[in-house]
Amino acid sequence: MSWSSAQYTKFEAERNRPIGDLLGRIRAPDVRKAADIGCGPGNSTEALRYRYRHADIIGIDSSPDMIAAARKRLPALRFEIDDIATWRDPGPFDLILSNAVLHWVPDHTALMPALCARLREGGCLAVQMPDNLEEPAHSLMRDIAADGPWAAKLAGASRARTDVRDANYYYGLLRGRVAAIDIWRTIYFHPLAGGAAAVVEWFKGSGLLPFLAPLDPAEREMFLARYEEALAGAYPELEDGTVLLPFPRLFMVVTR
Ligand SMILES: C[S@@+](CC[C@H](N)C(=O)[O-])C[C@H]1O[C@@H](n2cnc3c(N)ncnc32)[C@H](O)[C@@H]1O
Repeated sequence: MSWSSAQYTKFEAERNRPIGDLLGRIRAPDVRKAADIGCGPGNSTEALRYRYRHADIIGIDSSPDMIAAARKRLPALRFEIDDIATWRDPGPFDLILSNAVLHWVPDHTALMPALCARLREGGCLAVQMPDNLEEPAHSLMRDIAADGPWAAKLAGASRARTDVRDANYYYGLLRGRVAAIDIWRTIYFHPLAGGAAAVVEWFKGSGLLPFLAPLDPAEREMFLARYEEALAGAYPELEDGTVLLPFPRLFMVVTR
């Protein structure tokens, strides 16, 4: 499955909204060393740089296309191709930011405490993850994958993502190891011009990736046509052709 910075940034303003909300809850006054893990095309890193102008910031991402886009956007910062699951930089960090990434990384039970262990005392882990697998945009993706000539090819597609657990789970996992946990869930409502086709474009940049990667071009076209038709029933168009896309997200700011 390969990420495309061009497809992902088609909805950059909407995708940036939770970054601001997440950074807004970080109380660490003095951030000298920070990491943006799963930095994508550098949009979250740019927000981090804007907030902490003098920090030493590194961005890592497993996608070469995303890292190339991030380097182009912020040539003065350090970006490296790396996988969060095997990333070994011990820090210690004043801030680790991970926006819209960790739902792609397995084993949160081990991962979250391991990330907190790389924080300096008083440092923060700031995480936001889409919590939208029960939304029609995802259930329809799974339904169409299971009911088509591609069913065998797509049998494992939904396992590419890690289930995001609820707030109680992460709170229980981390309390006792850290000084404070601020955890909340928000549903954004994004108005997208262009009806169901715009919702397809949105998910082509993220959630659809594991469903489209195994398909050949003709299957991909057929899958997307069926998906768009199904979305049109689930997300009715307003009079001007706009659809309102509800998007639930889980946030946590953990202070060591
Ligand atoms: C939805 S984008 C988020 C980009 C950016 N952080 C933002 O705030 O918009 C998810 C990014 O996570 C990266 N990613 C997914 N799994 C990863 C992993 N195991 N290690 C590193 N990066 C990963 C993808 O390559 C992609 O760039």
